[in-house]
Amino acid sequence: MNKKRLIIAMTGATGAIYGVRMLQILQTLPYWESHLVISPAGLVNLKYELEMDRAELYRLADVTHGINDIASSIASGSFKTEGIIIAPCSMKTLAAVAHGFGDNLISRAADVALKERRKTVLVPRETPLNLAHIRNMAAVTEMGGIIYPPMPAFYNKSDSLRAMVDEGVGRILDMFGIEVEGLYKPWNGLNGEVE
Ligand SMILES: Cc1cc2nc3c(=O)[nH]c(=O)nc-3n(C[C@H](O)[C@H](O)[C@H](O)COP(=O)(O)O)c2cc1C
Repeated sequence: MNKKRLIIAMTGATGAIYGVRMLQILQTLPYWESHLVISPAGLVNLKYELEMDRAELYRLADVTHGINDIASSIASGSFKTEGIIIAPCSMKTLAAVAHGFGDNLISRAADVALKERRKTVLVPRETPLNLAHIRNMAAVTEMGGIIYPPMPAFYNKSDSLRAMVDEGVGRILDMFGIEVEGLYKPWNGLNGEVE
């Protein structure tokens, strides 16, 4: 069976749960192969936010790659993938991607995805934004990347952090043709409740 490969990259912005949930969902899908790479700052947040260490995280992925392993498969365009999701994405990694500065495996893998015109989704987390952040998001968008800030839709009336996270995770995975029931409720209109 030829599995579809998807790179999940995690960096040191808050929101490690986004990457973790994506890996957990991919684990349930037999036709998908997850490729994980996490930065050192990402590991710090993983520990702080979820009390999870590298070994526990690695168990969620089909294939793991070291952040400095610049000779890794995902560093080359000849290794076919469906694309990359950087979740969460720090402003530092956003800057590296925006400027084609592939100094580690995350920025290199995103650089490859953009040059190969593969789906590249960044889930940036910072607030408020300075002009460099905004310009870097514009640059990634101009290159064909998708900026998906993790902003909950309050009309979904989520009653837990997990539900809010899953809504974002579901919508991002949808972009890759991965539809998982129960992650979020698509908006279907108000059925005439508003004139
Ligand atoms: C607890 C914690 C939370 C952080 N949250 C953010 C954040 O939300 N956004 C961000 O851009 N950086 C955040 N940072 C800073 C990044 O971790 C830092 O800039 C780091 O160098 C990013 O490196 P990386 O992109 O290689 O992971 C946070 C750091 C810590 C320790």
